Amino acid sequence: MLAGKKILLGITGGIAAYKTPLLIRELIKAGAEVQVVMSRAAQQFVTPLTLATLSRREVITEMFPDASANASHRWTQHIDLALWADVMFIAPATAHTIAKITHGFADDMLTTLVLALRCPLALAPTMDVDMFLNRTTQMNIDALKGTGCFVIDPDEGELASGLAGPGRLPETDKLLAFIDDILEKVHQDLTGKHVLVTAGPTQEPIDPVRYIGNRSSGKMGFAVAAAASLRGAQATLISGPVALKTPRNVHRIDVRTAREMQAATLARFEKADVVIMTAAVADYAVVNPAHEKIKREQQSGNELTLTLTKNPDILKSLGEKKTHQILVGFALETHNGVAYAQEKLQRKNLDVIVLNNPNEEGAGFNTDTNIVSILTPDGKVEQLPRKSKFDVANMILDRVKMKLTWSV
Ligand code: PMT
Repeated sequence: MLAGKKILLGITGGIAAYKTPLLIRELIKAGAEVQVVMSRAAQQFVTPLTLATLSRREVITEMFPDASANASHRWTQHIDLALWADVMFIAPATAHTIAKITHGFADDMLTTLVLALRCPLALAPTMDVDMFLNRTTQMNIDALKGTGCFVIDPDEGELASGLAGPGRLPETDKLLAFIDDILEKVHQDLTGKHVLVTAGPTQEPIDPVRYIGNRSSGKMGFAVAAAASLRGAQATLISGPVALKTPRNVHRIDVRTAREMQAATLARFEKADVVIMTAAVADYAVVNPAHEKIKREQQSGNELTLTLTKNPDILKSLGEKKTHQILVGFALETHNGVAYAQEKLQRKNLDVIVLNNPNEEGAGFNTDTNIVSILTPDGKVEQLPRKSKFDVANMILDRVKMKLTWSV
């Protein structure tokens, strides 16, 4: 996959920067074009001249280089390069740079480029073991993974400090395979298609303080939206209340209740080519939620009775309206999964249904992985092993792609 690909290689200030000349040499050998962007600290470890010689391109070190500040081709260089690249890979990625990227800082060329990217972003976190295992660093890495960023785990072994543990930059062969794999995963095969995704729970108010909800974190739906966007689709994400960052280049609409989710979905249905309903929509809402907080002291007896009413079945209503759209539902089942999923597939007029079980370890709510079966109307049931939610998302999109019709 590397031949002819345009790679933005970000290098930040860690001792492992001394290994990047070899990485550049191998990328060039594989036929890739490499544009190096260095942080200031990185230049303490390896010189721009070395990297420019190997990459056969000027290395970018400054946002505003003095000599060329007035050169017109530099005015929008951060945007031009961001659009030019097929992938941006930051290796080594220090804890500091990872923190800056997580929080959207743009205080040098490297981090500014990250914000402007449309292509996949990949990182090789490389640092001393305690910095890597530090809770903040781990939280930042998890947050970036959640927005669709690809992360290669550091190798374990002896570190420059003399300590041992995870933190080493993986060997060049491993890095090349990692980039190659990303390029394969995110080939732009959904360009021109509009993918509408629902995610997270819905919350049905009881009073201004309390609600009926469920344990959905939104991770599955956010992974689908991120994967669709990375594959070139125009991705719209309609999300219930969750604590996740919006994946890059995804248009997000926040809703709270099932009825709000239904309205937002229906309004965008006509223009959608694909709809993927990962949301855990509450099946019931409270009739006449209280406008003021229900006071415990004012209730007589030990019981509080709430009257619930059925919420609309959003997916079923889409199935009834569908014309050209590919409709994908999820089925969350604890028992008789295949039979219930097949029944939902037919009743809701779906093209694909993805079955998962919340009681299985590593599947369902608030996990980074899922264990799913993919069912289609021809009776096929594909059981997949445990995979990251991002990989599951791509496997669903692979099945969807086969069903899409393409006009030229
Ligand atoms: O968000 P995460 O923490 O990552 O967890 C992911 C998940 C477990 C929520 C996800 O993988 C999942 O299974 N989503 C579907 C949950 C669900 O509501 O399943 P269901 O079998 O009750 O519903 C079947 C389908 O109908 C779903 O696509 C659902 O979005 C849809 N539905 C359900 C009820 C309703 N009133 N309207 C709907 O459109």
